[in-house]
Amino acid sequence: MTSFWSGWIILLTAFTIAATTWLLFANRYSTSKEGDTTGHVYDGIEEYDNPLPAWWLWLFVLSIVFGVGYLIFYGLGNYPGLFGWTQTKQYEAEMAEADAKYSPVYERYAAMTIEEVAEDQQAMRMAGRLFNSNCAQCHGSDAKGNRGYPNLTDSDWLWGGEPEQIKTTLVNGRQAAMPGWEAVLKETGVHEVSEYVLKMSGQEHDAAMATAGEKHYQTYCLACHGPEGKGNPMMGAPNLTDDVWLYGGTRMRIRETLIKGRNGQMPAQQDTLSAEKIHLLAAYVYNLAQ
Ligand code: HEC
Ligand code: HEC
Repeated sequence: MTSFWSGWIILLTAFTIAATTWLLFANRYSTSKEGDTTGHVYDGIEEYDNPLPAWWLWLFVLSIVFGVGYLIFYGLGNYPGLFGWTQTKQYEAEMAEADAKYSPVYERYAAMTIEEVAEDQQAMRMAGRLFNSNCAQCHGSDAKGNRGYPNLTDSDWLWGGEPEQIKTTLVNGRQAAMPGWEAVLKETGVHEVSEYVLKMSGQEHDAAMATAGEKHYQTYCLACHGPEGKGNPMMGAPNLTDDVWLYGGTRMRIRETLIKGRNGQMPAQQDTLSAEKIHLLAAYVYNLAQ
């Protein structure tokens, strides 16, 4: 916060408190005697001109004193307060406490292999909680994914399902790069190669177009998706011959993929999660697919 806004807030707050206090005491005493009225009449009911009852007045005074005390201890504007309390500090203190409590547990798992950790019930319960707070927003709480977000419970992998490959995915993240093909293949070419993808995945297709599409495939697609369309985990290129689809396997979806290209991104976790937590999560993902 700049000192201008800090000063502004402090001034505004101090003024409000002073004004409230003045209002309270200015109305405390009146020159009227017991039983005098203010002269206001509503439907024949008159208003007495009595001061506030003492208990009520003191309740107001007490809340003002409490308010001022609160600001002195907890701060206002840039003034940190006598306690120096902030939400961030409290959060950090709680995290440090949790780390101290759990770090021996994490260290024990870190010394085990991913396969071993995946067998450990307690580790999997801890990892499940980590998954829910760090991964479920994209992969779903059941880890079954959604369009563009891979299902982690099957044995079909973009980037490989070996323990070390999963760990690399988590640590560094992954950036898939499938270019768009409309400029190169034109509309007909996209049609043809789509029919070929339908053919490879064993779906209903136009045979003549698929034959033309196969040529495009050999020229443009083979380098990443492989000669038989089985994919390549080095590039995250999916297998096109099965019925597992990241973006959908209908004619319309395949064409959309080919026209627009696809660039799925798995965010790197190394800056957000400790190495021990990533180890646990890698074991969790490995276990899901078993
Ligand atoms: C440079 C490498 C590369 C080339 C060349 C390439 N692809 Fe891809 N392709 C990928 C990657 C990587 C993905 C995954 C994209 C993602 O995960 O966001 C992909 C995804 C796809 C998908 C979506 C699969 C799904 O499960 O939804 C289809 C279909 C596809 N490619 C077909 C083709 C065809 C046909 C060609 C040739 C015209 C081609 N690709 C050329 C790398 C490539
Ligand atoms: C912002 C969304 C997002 C978050 C958060 C996220 N992921 Fe991903 N993840 C993706 C996307 C998108 C891909 C697919 C990348 C691609 O297209 O190649 C992916 C891919 C993966 C893969 C590779 C799957 C394969 O078939 O090879 C694994 C494993 C994975 N994520 C695990 C996790 C775990 C564990 C977490 C939590 C620490 C996590 N992800 C958090 C979006 C996310």
